Amino acid sequence: MQIIDGKALSQKIKTSLKEETSLLKDNQNIVPGLAVIIIGDDPASRAYVGMKAKACKDVGFYSIVHEMPNSITQEEIIDTIKMMNNNPRIDGILVQLPLPNHIDTDKILEVIEPKKDVDGFHAYNVGRLVTGLDSFVACTPLGVMEMFKKYNIELEGKDVCVVGASNIVGKPMASLLLNANATVTVTHIFTKDLASHTSKADIVVVGVGVPHLIKEDMIKEGAVVIDIGINRLEDGSLTGDVDYQNVAPKCSYITPVPGGVGPMTIAMLLSNTLKSATKRGL
Ligand code: GUN
Repeated sequence: MQIIDGKALSQKIKTSLKEETSLLKDNQNIVPGLAVIIIGDDPASRAYVGMKAKACKDVGFYSIVHEMPNSITQEEIIDTIKMMNNNPRIDGILVQLPLPNHIDTDKILEVIEPKKDVDGFHAYNVGRLVTGLDSFVACTPLGVMEMFKKYNIELEGKDVCVVGASNIVGKPMASLLLNANATVTVTHIFTKDLASHTSKADIVVVGVGVPHLIKEDMIKEGAVVIDIGINRLEDGSLTGDVDYQNVAPKCSYITPVPGGVGPMTIAMLLSNTLKSATKRGL
C-alpha cells in the first residue's frame, strides 16, 4: 500500500508555479491576480479562503478578498463580480461556496467572465470540459487527476466509481475520467446499493462529506481510493469520507485526510490563475 502524499506534491507544484510567476513578471511585467469573494461567517469557508489568500502570497500573486456580510443582496454581489470582470489586474475570480440561501448560486456563477473563471464552475467551462475542449476545470477534480499522473496510475479502461455527484466535485471528476477513457460509474444519495458499485471498482473517488462512509468491505483488494471528504469531528479533528484505518491495508494507493486532496485543490487554483494570467489581453 502506498500513501499518495498530496501535501508534498502540492509543495512541488507551488515551487514551480512560483518560478513561472517570477518569469512572467520579469518577461511580460504581468503579476497574476486573484479575487476571492466570501459571504457570511461560516468558519470552514473562512479558513479555506484564508488558505487560498496565503497560497497566493507564497507564490507571488496579487490577491484581494472581498468579505461580505450575510445580509448582502444578490445585486451587490453581482456588481462586485462585474467590477472584477473589468479589473485588468485580476485574472481569476472565485466566489466561495456555499452561498447563503437567499442568493441564487447559478445566477452568481453565470456572471463571472468565463476567461477569469478559475474555479471552472461557469456553464461555458463545464460545457467545454464535457466536450473535451481546453477549459478551466474545477480545482479539486483537477488536483485528483494530477495525483493519478504523478503516481503513474493508469486510467484507460479502468472501472472507476465516483461517489457523489455535485457540480463542484463529482460531475467534473466523472467528465475528466471519461475523457481519460475510464469506464465511469457515478453514484449518489439515491443510489440503491452503493457497495455493489464501489466493491467492483479498480478506483474509487469519494467526495460526499459523510465521515467514514466507505468501509473496508466496500472496496476491492488492490483498489486505488481517493478521499475528497474533509469532515470535522466533535473533538475538532479532521477526517475523510473513508474509514482510512481499515480501508488502507486493502488498497494499492490511498489518499490521507488531511494531507491528501485538500492541498492539491489550492495548488490547482494557483495553476488555473497563472494559466489565465499568461493569456491576459489575448
Ligand atoms: N467550496 C467548497 N469547495 C470549493 C471550491 O473548490 N471553490 C469554491 N469557490 N467554493 C468551494
